[in-house]
Order: sequence, then structure tokens, then C-alpha cells
Amino acid sequence: MNAQIAVLPGDGVGPEVVGQARRVLEAVAAKFGHHFEMEEAHIGGGAIDATGESLPAKTLALCRRADAILLGAVGGPQWDAPGTTVRPEQGLLALRQELELFANLRPVRVHPRLKDASPLKAALLEGIDVLVVRELTGGIYFGEKRRDGDRAIDTCVYTVGEVERIVRIACEQARKRAGRVTSVDKANVLETSRLWRATAERVGREEFPDVVMEHLLVDAAAMHLLRRPSDFDVIVTENMFGDILTDEASMLSGSLGMLPSASLGAGPLGLYEPIHGSAPDIAGTGRANPYGAILSVAMLLHHSFDLFQESATVQAAVATAIDAGYLTPDIACDGIETFSTAEIGDAVVANLGSATD
Ligand code: IPM
Ligand code: MN
Repeated sequence: MNAQIAVLPGDGVGPEVVGQARRVLEAVAAKFGHHFEMEEAHIGGGAIDATGESLPAKTLALCRRADAILLGAVGGPQWDAPGTTVRPEQGLLALRQELELFANLRPVRVHPRLKDASPLKAALLEGIDVLVVRELTGGIYFGEKRRDGDRAIDTCVYTVGEVERIVRIACEQARKRAGRVTSVDKANVLETSRLWRATAERVGREEFPDVVMEHLLVDAAAMHLLRRPSDFDVIVTENMFGDILTDEASMLSGSLGMLPSASLGAGPLGLYEPIHGSAPDIAGTGRANPYGAILSVAMLLHHSFDLFQESATVQAAVATAIDAGYLTPDIACDGIETFSTAEIGDAVVANLGSATD
């Protein structure tokens, strides 16, 4: 197939991990006879420096024209000064909102070789396969916010329609998996959560009677994710709870650097990015873990291009590289040899093999 991919490397380690993800895309294209046209653009801090805006109109236009978007990370201390009005993160939030990418899929799996990298006991890590479906364009992230003298106000808003569509995505995903959905809210305190729970319960009952749905309060969910992680199948939750719970869940897999994500809307266009941030402390050192970005490429091939075999091939190449001990410092135990971001990319690309294999 021929496809256009907008590549937004962003800040910090973003360009390093996206560089390896790009190489993987190129190798997949060569092996399977596809043509991926990749064009880069600024977003985040780099975009602020270049244009004064965190999401320049040119970047947004490129993304709208593209069939898929690959992104690294945004943010960094140089754009954090008190009183700063334009922040790098606003560019990413605006992109998600402008393209109506309301469904953020964050799969959590544990590679057997990485059990020692997780702070949890190995016995608890057996059989973990969780998909977190995070609502991405509503909630407290996008409600009205303002300063009023010595008060600051953030508003959390959800509509029935916003909850219905994300719960449907979660239930549809569950049907392809173990058929269970855990809806996470704070219905004992928040009105938005009471609307969330009632809506999730109704959509589940009326439209997905074959899917088993349970409801958990977010504080209890945070605890159960550590106490009995292998019990979960699909977790669906609002924007901020999903942000927090997926950083927590990433430690089951060994590192924040391992998790990919897909942000989807009503059509095939999707935004693919690792869930980690820009990690400015290690930027430029070659220590960044590119597996989250490379696994995001596997999600891109699957969700935006329907290239299921290609996607599975990338996942297998990653698993083989990890098996063979290609580990960055965040997933290697003390005394184990570690490899650079680019060496990990080399290993994955080598495992993909060529068209003649
Ligand atoms: C994420 C990030 C973003 C978020 C930031 C960079 C705005 O933490 O994708 O999880 O909070 O959504
Ligand atoms: Mn986050």
C-alpha cells in the first residue's frame, strides 16, 4: 500500500525514539512491498522555539492530510518557567482535540525476560494482558480553567455522548479479548463520575450483554492493579484517571519506556506515541528506551492501515530482541549488559528480516 505518515519527533528523547521507530517502518515497507511517505513537522517545545506556537498551523494541516501520525514526546524544563503562557503540552492536547482522537488505547503486557525489571513479585506478573482505554478529549484536561486572584479553577465536564462512545470502544475491544470491562470512576464523590457510571452500566447492559462489566472506584483500582493485575482485561476510564493509571500500569511491564499507545477517532486516522514523556534528563545520551515507540508503530500498522501481519511481525521482532537481551538501562537489572537506543533499533530491524526471507 501507499500511505502518508506525519512524523512529529517533538522534544527531549522524542527524536531519538522516533528515529528508531521510523527505521522500523522503513524496514517493514521494504520487506512487505509498501511505500510509506514520511514527512516531519514541529510540535511542542521545538515548535514554540521555531514559530512561537506549540501546534503550528502547518503541522496540523500535515496531520489532517496524513493517514497516520507518529509522535515522540513533548515538554522540557526550558518551557516550564513560571508565568509561561504557551506550554509544549498544549500542542499535543490541541492535536488530540482538533482531530477528535477521543479513544486512547494503551496495552500493557509483560515480556517474560523483563519480570525482574518490574518492582512487583514475579508471581504477580504471570498472565498480565490489560488494555487501558483512556478517554482522551474530555474531562478536566479540557474543561474551562482560570486564575481568579489567589484561586485557580479547573473544570471537569463529561457528556453522556462522550461516555457512550468511549465505553462502546472498550466493549468492542473486550469482545476481541477476554470479554470483561472494568469501568473506573470516582462515583462516590464526583458528579461526572456518577454520569459516567450510569452511562457505562446502561451501554453495557443494552448494547453488550455478552460483555461482563464491573465498576471500580479509581483509588481502589490503583490498589488492585498492584494486588491482582492479571485479573484485568479491559479498563475504561476518564482522561486524567487513565493518564495516572497507565503510568502505574507501565511498571508491571518493567518501565514507562515499554508502553505504546494509539489515539483513535471515528475514522482510520490515528496518532501513535509511546506513553512516556520527553525524559530531558537522559536526552542525547543514547539511554532512551525505544520499545514503546517501536510498539506504537505496530499499533499504527494494525489500527490505521489494517496491516495485521506487518503489525504482528514488528511485535515478534521486539519480543525476539528482548529475549536476546537487547535492553536499555531502564529495563536491565544491575550488572546486565545494556544497549543504546540505536543498537536496540538495529536489533529489531535485523529481526524483521528482508523481503527475501
Ligand atoms: C500522556 C502525557 C500527556 C497527557 C501530557 C504530555 C500532556 O502524560 O500522553 O500520557 O497527560 O496526556
Ligand atoms: Mn501521561
